Amino acid sequence: MLFDLEPKSRREDLYNFETELRSLINGITNEKIIAIRGLRRTGKTSLMRVALNEAGYPFIYLDPRFSGRPRRSDVVELIRRGLEDFLGRNRPIIDRVREALSRIKWVRIGVSPIHVEIRLNESRRLSIGELLDAINDLGAELGKAVVIAIDEAQELSKITWINFNMLLAYAYDNLRYVKFLLSGSEIGLLDRFLRVKDPEAPLFGRYIYFMNTRRLSPDESLDFLRRGFEQYGVKPSDDFLIRVVNELDGIIGWLTYVGHQYVVEGKHSLDEVLESATALALSELRNFLMNRSPRYKVLLRELFVRRGWRELKAALEVAEGRVINDKALYVLLRELIDHGIVEMVNDEYVIADPILRRAVLKL
Ligand SMILES: Nc1ncnc2c1ncn2[C@@H]1O[C@H](COP(=O)(O)OP(=O)(O)OP(=O)(O)O)[C@@H](O)[C@H]1O
Ligand SMILES: [Mg+2]
Repeated sequence: MLFDLEPKSRREDLYNFETELRSLINGITNEKIIAIRGLRRTGKTSLMRVALNEAGYPFIYLDPRFSGRPRRSDVVELIRRGLEDFLGRNRPIIDRVREALSRIKWVRIGVSPIHVEIRLNESRRLSIGELLDAINDLGAELGKAVVIAIDEAQELSKITWINFNMLLAYAYDNLRYVKFLLSGSEIGLLDRFLRVKDPEAPLFGRYIYFMNTRRLSPDESLDFLRRGFEQYGVKPSDDFLIRVVNELDGIIGWLTYVGHQYVVEGKHSLDEVLESATALALSELRNFLMNRSPRYKVLLRELFVRRGWRELKAALEVAEGRVINDKALYVLLRELIDHGIVEMVNDEYVIADPILRRAVLKL
């Protein structure tokens, strides 16, 4: 069903995005590192899941969203869950997986019920390189590369004590049967994590296959809504649909949300639904602002509409009653852009998401 809130994993639940899906499957088939970039709620996880289910490679799926600064136990749990999920989906090859992983002394696999145990102590270090080698052995044994899919991969940069750039470069150069599929909504942070522009980075110069998610066009948005409602035998008025399209700027996650609220929660007042969407966005925004300079709040309030550099600078200067230098403003805007909150359109800046735009008014 199109209005299900979960990220989609089956092709028949994926609206359009045929080109994106094909491109992604091509990438998975032909390349070693594939990265999906796109604003929040534009369908990255859905595309990733459908492509993984369609591409025909065994895959390990990791979702490393950490609430705070991750400790070793958080990383262990991430890996443990990833392996357990992988085994659950691949019961017929469980013996071969056990065999391939048997040389890692800190991983234990139990069969009935399927469970993975990770035991580390002083003498047993968590060696991701060792794990990658074992996964490569498994791929060689299966005659197919194993895809390590990492959703919101920029989150891994919070693990400062593991050099992921080095590990990716190592796998790229040496492990024929390991591929990486990464996604990121904080596009600039993903680039920083991959150190794409840093000639000193171990990964520098290796090919990364990038693809971007996109907004739906107004026509597609309307069509998406009509089809979604049709699946529930509901036919809201054209006025209602057009208002939704105009408010949501082609962001498929919000269109899904509004549809879901209407058909499942029975909320037919658009204002009410937009209000609850805004509350959701507001809490995400508050998370971002926590422990950050109050200057962000000043800027965000301005960026409700498109603003030029001078206007933003003037707004900060008025708020603080003193001169702000260009470098400081540059760093602030860079951070907002890297987090996917603000985008640049024709040399002007604006909050990228229409619901987030409403949310800043409530800050
Ligand atoms: N092509 C699609 N067809 C139908 N529904 C979709 C499609 N793409 C995304 N959705 C829906 O939109 C919402 C957001 O999708 P998804 O979680 O895949 O996006 P995302 O970019 O990973 O979001 P986030 O940035 O929050 O992680 C979900 O409710 C999902 O079911
Ligand atoms: Mg996602």
